[in-house]
Amino acid sequence: MMKREELLYEGKAKKVYATDDPNLVLVDYKDDATAFNGLKKGSIQGKGAINNRITNHLMQLLEKQGIPTHFETELSERETLVKKVTIVPLEVIVRNIAAGSLAARLGLPEGTKLQKTVLEFCYKDDELGDPMVNSYHIAAMGWATDDELKLISDYSLRINDILTSYLKELGIELIDFKLEFGKTSGGTIVLADEISPDTCRFWDSQTHEKLDKDRFRRDMGGVEDAYHEIMKRLMGE
Ligand code: TMP
Ligand code: ASP
Repeated sequence: MMKREELLYEGKAKKVYATDDPNLVLVDYKDDATAFNGLKKGSIQGKGAINNRITNHLMQLLEKQGIPTHFETELSERETLVKKVTIVPLEVIVRNIAAGSLAARLGLPEGTKLQKTVLEFCYKDDELGDPMVNSYHIAAMGWATDDELKLISDYSLRINDILTSYLKELGIELIDFKLEFGKTSGGTIVLADEISPDTCRFWDSQTHEKLDKDRFRRDMGGVEDAYHEIMKRLMGE
């Protein structure tokens, strides 16, 4: 059984521990929730366990469809063993329908269908508030090479296709989501971090009810129920 060793990193929603294998780390999902770059703080009961299970379920689905991910083994309700990677310091946002910051920036009503999928990149830096950047900034700052950025963009669009059609069958509309990628010690780019109601906008296909973290961000109530509903639709429980 893989043991936790020292705490390597504590983020807003997860802790990462070293293990006795230098190529693997252990991720421990917390119930803590923040929004607006940490300005709003709270907790969502049971979220850690739900996000762990949803992330692993979706990562395994993506692996089967040929997307390399950091996933190795689910160890417990909240703990998963993943490949140790160096995180590419970018948040990749994929948007199918205008919502959130895009709706605000372009003055679009939330729910406006975009004529083409939109990819955005933000530089991961909490102090700067994760500013949006483009491929020129990314190359100029050396955050990823042009080839790496092309691969990351291709994977992100393929992930969007796979997840959109999978979720559609479950009555869930994939509005937008955020991905992070990492580089293994061997130099391979893999999907990392999480895919969960914290990092995606999920709307019920029929009612357009929000089933994601926007319920927490916007004080809408029914946060735990929404996370449970997504887990139930994905995993039948
Ligand atoms: P946005 O509309 O606020 O820019 O968010 C776009 C998507 O990215 C949405 O699905 C939520 C997700 N997201 C994160 O996962 N982490 C973040 O820090 C932010 C701002 C958004
Ligand atoms: N978790 C993020 C933060 O606190 C933002 C979000 O998901 O809205 O910055």
